[in-house]
Amino acid sequence: MPRILLAIESTCDETAAAVITDDGIVLGECIATQTELHERFQGVVPEIAARAHLERILPVIDQALKQSGVAPCDLEAIAVATHPGLPGSLLVGLSAAKGLALAWNKPLVGINHVQAHIYACGIGKPESIFPCVGFVVSGGHTSLYHCESPAQWTYISGTIDDAAGEAFDKVAVMLGLPFPGGPQLSKLAEKGDPKAIAFPRPMLDDKKRLDFSFSGLKTAVRYRIAGVGKHTWGPSELPDQVRADIAASFQQAILDCLIGKSVQACKQVSVNRLCVGGGVASNRPFREQLAVACQRQQIELHIAPSELCTDNAVMGALAWEKIHLGQFDDLDLDAQPGLLRRR
Ligand code: KG4
Ligand code: ZN
Repeated sequence: MPRILLAIESTCDETAAAVITDDGIVLGECIATQTELHERFQGVVPEIAARAHLERILPVIDQALKQSGVAPCDLEAIAVATHPGLPGSLLVGLSAAKGLALAWNKPLVGINHVQAHIYACGIGKPESIFPCVGFVVSGGHTSLYHCESPAQWTYISGTIDDAAGEAFDKVAVMLGLPFPGGPQLSKLAEKGDPKAIAFPRPMLDDKKRLDFSFSGLKTAVRYRIAGVGKHTWGPSELPDQVRADIAASFQQAILDCLIGKSVQACKQVSVNRLCVGGGVASNRPFREQLAVACQRQQIELHIAPSELCTDNAVMGALAWEKIHLGQFDDLDLDAQPGLLRRR
């Protein structure tokens, strides 16, 4: 009889549940996205996200369990992402997990959502991904960790302002692209020239600093859009090729920073394995260019499969690491919206 876990994810605007064995086999999975609710605001509205989670959480869990064919009595534990994330959104997932743990008499395991993004690189693989440098590149985070073991994560560096995905989303709005902007911008960039405009690569030349900063780059794009050809353009008036060139050049500037700093981090902590997760890690040129850079530097690269890059509950398999160590949580477990660096 395999050991089976129910994992719940509700940190931002995805309501998700998954039923996973201890060797990483996904028996059931359900994700309800909220794109249509946040589209007209061009970003996630926390209150709307929390209310939508509330409506969807139980049907989503029900669907994942039904798909798996697993009865609640056969679950070993219930895992839930408790930090970091939007306060209202986290509370919905956590309350559901606590309620089910109590009703079904199962242990509760709280997990770190950022660590889960990195852990997604190794799910179902026979070899452990540890030790590694973990890199999460998402809408909320751009952070590098020294991950010595599943239980020992040390924060190395991160963004001092916008996260990479956030910068993608904001520049997409400037270019008049629909929400969510990252994938749309990346699609537009395919038609553009990444060398057309020399946007800044903040702090890339400073090899000692491993921080990221994308707000200046974002401002450079804004001025570029406003000033093309001594004319003030709105996004919809920009010539198609100019829009595509701006998208491609902006994307390349971000990718150069992400690739340069993550490779540098591996050198600084003397670890030759890099594990990358988070929504932006599904960006195709990022995956391709990072693979080339890692090969050149003899760094073993693991990038989460595309379907496990954006928010999902399968990456809650991280909870098995805590279960194996006997680290369960009590029912007074709290959501910790801003908590990034601790376990
Ligand atoms: O990991 P995720 O689903 O949520 C957070 O935990 O933040 O990441 C979502 C972010 C969004 O900013 C989205 O625009 C970005 O990932 N993203 C992309 C791509 N796919 C998703 N950014 C660039 N290129 C993509 N293909
Ligand atoms: Zn995430």
